[in-house]
Amino acid sequence: MAGRDPDEDAIRLAAESLAQGDATGWFERLYAESATGDAIVPWDSRSPHFLLADWGAPGHGRALVVGAGLGDDAEFVAGLGYETVAFDVSESAVRLAQERFQGSEVRYQVADLLDPPAAWRRAFDLVVEVMTVQALPEPLHARAIAKVAEFVGPGGTLLVIASGREEGGPVFAPPWPLTPSEIETFAAGGMERVKVEELRDGERHRWRATFRRPAAVH
Ligand SMILES: C[S@@+](CC[C@H](N)C(=O)[O-])C[C@H]1O[C@@H](n2cnc3c(N)ncnc32)[C@H](O)[C@@H]1O
Repeated sequence: MAGRDPDEDAIRLAAESLAQGDATGWFERLYAESATGDAIVPWDSRSPHFLLADWGAPGHGRALVVGAGLGDDAEFVAGLGYETVAFDVSESAVRLAQERFQGSEVRYQVADLLDPPAAWRRAFDLVVEVMTVQALPEPLHARAIAKVAEFVGPGGTLLVIASGREEGGPVFAPPWPLTPSEIETFAAGGMERVKVEELRDGERHRWRATFRRPAAVH
């Protein structure tokens, strides 16, 4: 696979899925083809996202990692001390993560962010979302953002790491980078905005944003 454009397979499979009106089916095909060496997963860095690694501090309680892919972020979060659940819509991604991290304390499972288990509502002390909402077509963003925020329990924290773009800026999808107003939307539904960092590095535009759900008043 040396010399190939790492984005080529994702672009091809996404185009086929989206043409059939299927927003997420291409992830399973991409991970399944990667398992046989027939495709490259372009976001597979074999390490936690640097903006997560730089942010994480030891903690405790329950954590949920959204769209966990091959598991590096989930393993990092578990290493901080959290009892960690990590989910992905792709069965192959979940299987590959379990194979990579045999004996891991992370509970990997298949689930759809757009239709998650009811028991996860406001159930986590830390929710980590790295580049999942942006992997969905723009019309699905509002619903996906609301679902992510709803996982955060009273007193809990949400960390969002995403690519960014200006309001109405051009999109060469996938992904569909998040706009300033989309980032602010994570704070809807009773969450508080703690810190929103807009990070620019040459052409790269990223967000690292933290939100908190106020603790329940007794
Ligand atoms: C761009 S990848 C990022 C993966 C991982 N978070 C990382 O940073 O390496 C987006 C991930 O979200 C998953 N995903 C996409 N739509 C999803 C959905 N509706 N529910 C759960 N996972 C989803 C994909 O399978 C993929 O693993």
